[in-house]
Amino acid sequence: MEVAIITGASRGIGLEIAKRLVSAGYETFGLARQFDTCDLTSELFHPIVCDITNLSELTVAASQIVREKKRVDVLVNNAGVGIFGPLDSLKISDIDIMVRTNVTAPFVLTSELLFWLRKSSGYVINIASTAALKTQAQGAIYSATKSALLHFGDCLFEETRKQGVRVTTICPDITGETDFYQHNYFAPSENEDTFILPGCVADAVINVLNQRPGTVVSQIVVQAQRFQITKRPPSS
Ligand SMILES: NC(=O)c1ccc[n+]([C@@H]2O[C@H](COP(=O)([O-])OP(=O)(O)OC[C@H]3O[C@@H](n4cnc5c(N)ncnc54)[C@H](OP(=O)(O)O)[C@@H]3O)[C@@H](O)[C@H]2O)c1
Repeated sequence: MEVAIITGASRGIGLEIAKRLVSAGYETFGLARQFDTCDLTSELFHPIVCDITNLSELTVAASQIVREKKRVDVLVNNAGVGIFGPLDSLKISDIDIMVRTNVTAPFVLTSELLFWLRKSSGYVINIASTAALKTQAQGAIYSATKSALLHFGDCLFEETRKQGVRVTTICPDITGETDFYQHNYFAPSENEDTFILPGCVADAVINVLNQRPGTVVSQIVVQAQRFQITKRPPSS
C-alpha cells in the first residue's frame, strides 16, 4: 500500500488533504501537536503527535514511519504558521516560530525522506501561499518563509527530476474554515467569493497525484474570485 506523510494533519487544510489521501487509498501518517478536534478516523490514518519545530522529534517520527513501512510515496509539507503585523511589532519568538515551522521543518523532513521518495518516484507537495508570489505590507516574514518554500521546491525538482521525484508547490489564497487567522488582526471576509476552502486545496493535491507518469505539475495557485478581508482584534 502506498504511504503518504502530511504535516499539520489535525485541522484546516491539512485535515482535508489527509481525508482525501485516505479516500484515495494511501496509508496516511499525519503529524501535528494534538489531534483533539480531528474527526478523521480510518484504519488508513495514523495520527502522530509531533512538534515539527523540535527537530529531534521530527526526525524520530520520520524514521519510525520508514522503519515500519519501508516506503514513502507522498510527502505533503502543509503545517504552517502566519503572524502578521509591522515587522518591529512582531516578537522575536513570532519570527522564530514562523521560520522554524514554515521553512526549517519542511526542509529537514524532505531531506530525511528523500531516499525513499527517490525509490518510489514519489511526490513532494509543499503548501506555500499566494503570499509567496507578491509583496505585502505587514507580512514580510510570512511571505519570505513561503517564498523560501516555493524556491526550495523548484530547486529540489531540478535536483531530483532525473531520479523521478515529482515536486509541486501549491499556493492557496486566503482560506476559510481554518484556525489560521485566530490570533491575527484580519480574517477572511464573510462573502463567499473572497476566500477559498480547504477542500479546494485538497482537490489540487489530488489533481497533482492523478497526472500521468512523466507529467509534473510544478506550481498551482488557487485564488479567490475577489480580494476582501475583515479586520478585527485578534483573540489572545
Ligand atoms: N488559511 C489560509 O488562509 C492559508 C492561505 C495560504 C496558505 N496557507 C497555508 O496552509 C497551511 C495550513 O494552514 P491552515 O489554514 O490549515 O492553518 P491551521 O488551521 O492553523 O492549521 C495548521 C496545522 O498545522 C499544524 N501545526 C502548526 N504548528 C505545528 C507544529 N509546530 N508541529 C506540528 N504541527 C503544527 C497544526 O496542528 P497543531 O496545532 O495541533 O500542531 C494544524 O494541523 C499552512 O502552511 C499555511 O501557511 C493557509
